[in-house]
Amino acid sequence: MIFRRAQIVLVMALATACAPSAKPTGTETAVLTAPPQVPPPITRRQPATVVVNLEVSERTMPMADGVEYTFWTFGGTVPGSFIRVRQGDLVEFHLNNHPSSANPHNIDLHAVTGPGGGASSSVVAPGHTATFRFTALNPGLYVYHCATAPVGMHIANGMYGLILVEPENGLPKVDREYYVMQGDFYTRDPFGVAGHQPFDMRKAIREEPEYVLFNGAAGSLTGDKALSAQVGETVRLFVGNGGPNLVSSFHVIGEIFDRVYREAGSVPDANIQTTLVPAGGASIVDFKVEVPGTLILVDHALFRAFNKGALGMLTVTGAQDSSVFSGRIAEGIYQPEGGTVQVMPDAKAAAVASTPAERRTFGQRTYQQTCAACHQADGRGIVGAFPPLAGSDYLNADPTRAIQIVLFGLSGPVTVNGQQYNSVMPGQVLSDEDVANVLSYVYSQWGNAGTAVTPEQVKKVRAAGPVRPTSTAAH
Ligand code: CU
Repeated sequence: MIFRRAQIVLVMALATACAPSAKPTGTETAVLTAPPQVPPPITRRQPATVVVNLEVSERTMPMADGVEYTFWTFGGTVPGSFIRVRQGDLVEFHLNNHPSSANPHNIDLHAVTGPGGGASSSVVAPGHTATFRFTALNPGLYVYHCATAPVGMHIANGMYGLILVEPENGLPKVDREYYVMQGDFYTRDPFGVAGHQPFDMRKAIREEPEYVLFNGAAGSLTGDKALSAQVGETVRLFVGNGGPNLVSSFHVIGEIFDRVYREAGSVPDANIQTTLVPAGGASIVDFKVEVPGTLILVDHALFRAFNKGALGMLTVTGAQDSSVFSGRIAEGIYQPEGGTVQVMPDAKAAAVASTPAERRTFGQRTYQQTCAACHQADGRGIVGAFPPLAGSDYLNADPTRAIQIVLFGLSGPVTVNGQQYNSVMPGQVLSDEDVANVLSYVYSQWGNAGTAVTPEQVKKVRAAGPVRPTSTAAH
């Protein structure tokens, strides 16, 4: 009996998804919005003919501070205009290519049931318009994109957006809806290099983007452009991913998604932390904001967020509720770090020693910070792993070699005090002063030869470059 009822419900659900129950009546023009805004929910409860007028244009816009890019757009923005229709609607689509465009374009909507998603019916040369119709059979949130060859390049230049096909009875009501779409971008120069950046096809083929962005620009959703909500409100994000290459691990730092329509399917899942948004796919995430503060939208593949631009903010204002979260609320703690490549440990400004004793004192500091973890505070090393520096014949035999090893590292077998070691020491990121200090300290300790090493010596060794050190202390 229960099984039969479940069967009937399933059949009814399928019928709802595939066969609109009524013929469209009346005609209206779709409201299109630029990201992050979303057109208002559809209140009518019967299908209509909906006219969509979407204009393609190629325009140069900021991609990051001081960086410009010539985007190819649907509706003048990246991502393109948000389109909202209802299941069963007959969509009359007019694709208009602005006369100033240099290229033909078209549109493939994943909401279309039909060959190419409309692509072959919508190819338009600059200064032309194309019209086609489709019935929105399946509810869901769908990506649309240009599908003109080279397809990857048209998408990489920003030609994608979202179309929402509301189910017949609408989506559950929420207080705020926003439109966020990720894309990866391939520029000639690395992230942040100022000026107009041309598209780099080779990087696109290698799938090595310089930029990974929400809504087409680094900072599109930060500062005074951050999304906003009040404590106690429910927020819905329509999240898309244009790609062309990367999948997104979409996450909001400081929130749990109460409801996720995974891959924008019809059945929501509950209590999700991070949701996958495939290239050419979308997701609908709903959550209630309970406490004030700044929530951070990221692709949780985090170098994309902090070094390539995929970071946005949602500012929540209202009364604190210490039963939900009792910590300090620090706004703006997650600033984009920019694309600077960093090395660890970072090269520190060196302390300049004025006497040999001071040099050894400074050197002791560097030793404790940099060397003691392996060679130990007492310089005895660890048998079988890290050679001793205390009373070391290898060290005392050749100060120049010691400088080389600190600067450029050492790998391969070495014999120290009759013991063989075969580990890897990386070159250290230290200034000439630091190297002179730390070696002078080491030579002054633990029964070593007392050799004083100067920054001038280090400078000379650094200039000479890496040399393969000899493997034993024997000379
Ligand atoms: Cu195109």
